[in-house]
Amino acid sequence: MATELSHEQLVALAGEYGTPLYVYHAERIGEQYNHLLAAFRGANVRFFYAAKALTNINILRYIKSIGCNVDCSSVNEARLALLAGFDPTNILYTSNNIAFEEIEEAQRLGIHINIDSLSNLRKFGLKFGHSYPVGIRLRPNIMAGGNLKISTGHADSKFGIPLEQINEVLDLVKETGLFIRTLHIHTGSEIKDVEVFARGIEVLFDVAAHFPELEVIDLGGGFKVPYEPGETGTDIALLGKKVKEEFEQYEKKYGRPLQAWFEPGKFLVSEAGYFITKVNVLKPAGQAVFAGVDTGLNHLIRPMFYGSYHVIDNISNPGGEKKFYNVVGNICETDTFAENRLLPEIREGDYLVIRNAGAYCFEMSSHYNSRFKPAEVLVKEGEARLIRKRDELEDLLRGQVGV
Ligand code: LLP
Repeated sequence: MATELSHEQLVALAGEYGTPLYVYHAERIGEQYNHLLAAFRGANVRFFYAAKALTNINILRYIKSIGCNVDCSSVNEARLALLAGFDPTNILYTSNNIAFEEIEEAQRLGIHINIDSLSNLRKFGLKFGHSYPVGIRLRPNIMAGGNLKISTGHADSKFGIPLEQINEVLDLVKETGLFIRTLHIHTGSEIKDVEVFARGIEVLFDVAAHFPELEVIDLGGGFKVPYEPGETGTDIALLGKKVKEEFEQYEKKYGRPLQAWFEPGKFLVSEAGYFITKVNVLKPAGQAVFAGVDTGLNHLIRPMFYGSYHVIDNISNPGGEKKFYNVVGNICETDTFAENRLLPEIREGDYLVIRNAGAYCFEMSSHYNSRFKPAEVLVKEGEARLIRKRDELEDLLRGQVGV
C-alpha cells in the first residue's frame, strides 16, 4: 500500500491553512524514488527529477536529500536547483528552441546540457569546440504519450534534431570538434508502454556508433502514473529489467559501457500532491448538481487543458450517499474539474480533495481573474510546514510600474 495522507489529516490542514491549498507528502516522493532504485537495481543508470513538474525550492531540497539529481527546462530552473544546493554536476539542462545566450549561461554554470537544434549546436561547437561535453536531443519519430499536447518525439514535433539530419550533425562534429557525450530523446509524458522506451533505446543505439566519445543515453521522462481508478502506470520493474539487459548487451557487443539517464517528473511527484478546495455553492445542473468550489483553472488547469482526469474525494463527508456532481470552478469561463462524477453527498462548506496534484498543477497556475495563488504545505515525518504563503494583493502588483 502506498503511503497516503488520510482524510482527517487533510481536513485538519485545510482548517489550519485555509483553502485552496496544495499539500505535498515528502515520504511519498521518497517512496516513488525507491521504486525506481529497486526496479533498476544493478543497471548503470542515473535519475534526474524533471523540476518543471514542481519547483518549490523545498521540494527541490527534498529531492536532493534523497540522492536524486535534477533536470531543468530553463536556466532559471537550473538557478533554483543551485540555490537548493545541487552540485552543477548533478544538474541537467534540456533546452528547447532557446536563444544561444541561455546555453552560454548554462555552460557558465557548469551543468550538463542537451542541445536540441542544429543552429545552437553549431554555435556551441564553434565557441567551445571539444572543451565542454554536450548532449544532443534527437527527434526519434516515435509517437508516444497520453495526448498530442504532451507527445514530443513524433515526426511532426518541434522537439529535438530530426534523425534525418544526423549526417549534418556528424559534419558539424567533424568541423568543430564537438565532444558529444550524450544522446537524448524525450518522446512524451504518460507513456505506459515499456516497448516505447525499448524502441527509443534501439534508435539511439543505432546512432551511437557514430559517436566514439559517447557515455550517456538519456531517455527523458514520461513514466505514467495512474490517474483514473483502475488505471495502471508504466511497469517500472519491467522497464528496469529491460534497460539493464539492453545496456549490458550493448557493452558486450561493442566493448564500451553506456549509462542510461532518465528524467521523471510525474512519476516522482504526481501522487504526492493533494489539492484541497472548499465548496462555495450548490446549483442544479440537469441530472447532476453543480458543486462550485473556491478554485478554478487558474490553479489547476490540467482537466481543461488536457482533458485530464483527477480523482476527487469529498473528505468532509466520505460516507455520504452518492450522487452525481459537476465539480466546477469560480473562474469567469467554463472550468470543470469533473463532470457527472459520482461523489458522496456534497454540502456547501465541504472540503474536496483533488488527487494527483503534485505534478504540473501548482506549477502551471496563474493569477487569472486576479485571484491569489494557493498556499503550499509540505508534510514530512508527520509534520506539516508552510512552504509557500498564500498570495496577497502586493503579489498581484509585484513588478507593475506606476502603482
Ligand atoms: N524531460 C523532458 C525533456 C521533458 O520535456 C519532460 C516533460 C520530462 C522530462 C518529464 O516528463 P514526465 O516524467 O513528467 O512525464 N504539463 C503536462 C506535462 C508536460 C510534460 C513536459 N515535459 C501535464 O500536466 O500533463
